[in-house]
Amino acid sequence: MPSADIELEVESLRSQLEAWNYQYYVLDTPSVPDAEYDRLMRRLQELEQQYPELVRPDSPTQRVGGEPQSEFSQVTHEVPMLSLDNAFDGAELRDFDRRVRERLGNPEAEVEYACEPKLDGIAVSLLYRDGVLERGATRGDGYSGEDITHNVRTIPSIPLRLQGEHIPGVLEVRGEIYMPRSGFESLNQRAREAGEKTFVNPRNAAAGSLRQLDARVTAQRPLEMCCYSVGQVERGELPVTHTQVLDRLLQWGLRTNPESAVVVGAEACEAYYEALAVKRDQLPYDIDGIVFKVNDLALQQRLGFVSRAPRWAIARKFPAQEEMTRLLDVEFQVGRTGAITPVARLEPVFVGGVTVSNATLHNSDEIQRLGVQVGDTVIVRRAGDVIPQVVSVVSERRPDDARPVAFPDRCPVCDSPVEREEGEAVVRCMGGLVCAAQQKAAIKHFASRRAMDIEGLGDKLVEQLVDEGLVENVAGLYTLTREQLQGLERMGEKSADNLLAALEVSKQTSLARFIFALGIREVGEATALNLARHFGNWETLAAAGDEQLLAVDDVGPVVADHLRQFFDSASSMQVVEQLRRAGVNWPDLEVAPPEQLPLAGQIWVVTGKLEAMGRNEAKQLLQDLGAKVAGSVSSRTSCVVAGPGAGSKLGKATELGVEVLDESAFLQRLAALGIEL
Ligand code: IVH
Repeated sequence: MPSADIELEVESLRSQLEAWNYQYYVLDTPSVPDAEYDRLMRRLQELEQQYPELVRPDSPTQRVGGEPQSEFSQVTHEVPMLSLDNAFDGAELRDFDRRVRERLGNPEAEVEYACEPKLDGIAVSLLYRDGVLERGATRGDGYSGEDITHNVRTIPSIPLRLQGEHIPGVLEVRGEIYMPRSGFESLNQRAREAGEKTFVNPRNAAAGSLRQLDARVTAQRPLEMCCYSVGQVERGELPVTHTQVLDRLLQWGLRTNPESAVVVGAEACEAYYEALAVKRDQLPYDIDGIVFKVNDLALQQRLGFVSRAPRWAIARKFPAQEEMTRLLDVEFQVGRTGAITPVARLEPVFVGGVTVSNATLHNSDEIQRLGVQVGDTVIVRRAGDVIPQVVSVVSERRPDDARPVAFPDRCPVCDSPVEREEGEAVVRCMGGLVCAAQQKAAIKHFASRRAMDIEGLGDKLVEQLVDEGLVENVAGLYTLTREQLQGLERMGEKSADNLLAALEVSKQTSLARFIFALGIREVGEATALNLARHFGNWETLAAAGDEQLLAVDDVGPVVADHLRQFFDSASSMQVVEQLRRAGVNWPDLEVAPPEQLPLAGQIWVVTGKLEAMGRNEAKQLLQDLGAKVAGSVSSRTSCVVAGPGAGSKLGKATELGVEVLDESAFLQRLAALGIEL
């Protein structure tokens, strides 16, 4: 038991440390030498260690860092970092172009513009002195920002030292630091699994990651930088157009946007905008518009600035990817594995280019984290082809009659009990294949294009078949008769025959498709393919023990467990047996020991556009030949296949002296390995 004196001392240490902490981190006015602070901190740590009952979660010892922002030092931008004027439609863009031509004194002459995607991230400035990264800073208010050197140094796409020739003695490079969508999704996924707060969008995630005091945290975040201009330049010359400057930056080892283009006139700008609008969803990162810049730097100079924006550039904005709407209700959907997913029913809202009336709420933890209630005004985000999400609640708009979301304790479809596995966020219906929702989902998955590819067996039809009691599991599909089908609503003789023919065709499949079609938990297409390649036939796979399963690429303990459960389940194996008896078949594969494949042990990277095959096809081929295919170039890379439009990966490969093949050299190499396309 600590004495009253000890308790008092602990309390006084805490208030003293808290006061200093505030002055240091929040007000940025340190009031005592660090040594004094450290001494008190150590004393407090000792006491807390001795009397653990005195430890409180809000003790200064339990805090890493402090109120972050205040610790970043301020940086003055020698050349202010300006913002851009916006154009919200084609007419505003044409107005901009007209003003440019008029100001240049030759309204008839068309102007050359550099077009670039407007990345939705954080504007930063990088200062290189004699080619060495000296400082990274945020834009701040445009005149001064925060020093984030320690964080920018962790971003792999930012070179610590520039390469090449004619690098100015002082070169300030500007660009956007952002988080690619895939990185954002997996970061949030991990946060969700860990029960942590998720980020609202990639932009906030990037901002949050840069605002870390601990660069080790930043280093864990998937951040990238794309450069779009220069600021201060001393002791050196740059070329005379904007795009030439960007080319130069690329040569020096900095990333620029490969989507950039040069066009002439407003019409062509609008065409570029339209083309990118179509491509927007496929880009690996969020963009909120297109930036058009007068390409000739001398003309830029003549045009100058108004207040805080240049007269020589404009941002043509895309429709917003986040909008506000009202949550009308929450419904619960039961998936293939029984997972119960809450789905938000929304007042329809136009966001990310489509009208959205449903959004996922993921699971009960997410509902809790959001603190969302039915009737709330919420912010909905739809970016790319990612399903719409409710990202936050506008709490001040909560109506009096809002009601909390009640998670069901029985399956809303089959009324079986639900369970939440230890350590899992997902609540599952325990009804298994008794549950009509699970039956339907399993059959839809089985029939889908990438699985058994049963043409004409759409979702509606599957629902009918299950609801009518004609089919209970996937094997039942192959016993359907013409008469049964014709008895269904909206099913004529012809469609019935077509479906039967499609079922017949689907029987010839591949082992990989078959494994994938079974819908074993966590066994996606890639894992199914690996399993098929590894075992070559069904019998060996189904008899495989844990150790053999774990030897397969992509298969960890969890997947192995799901596989074993499937193979050990008499009812599952019975369905497989019925399918095979119905005539479902596939050729067995020859299994070459992986270490004997021609590219075994090699790491390849594929970048740029390929003509003879898609990039994915090329990757698949390489994997078939035993190579690992990586997403980025490192010193361990064996070879890079680079098509036209290859960007930084090509640069990196050249820098590291990694072998680079263009497409025709790649095809020759394949031919030498006996693969003719
Ligand atoms: S040029 C003087 N180019 O947009 C010109 N900005 O609204 C200054 N941005 O703060 C910017 N992509 O964060 C430029 N390709 C691009 C851009 C871009 C994104 C951001 C940047 C800037 C904001 C201006």
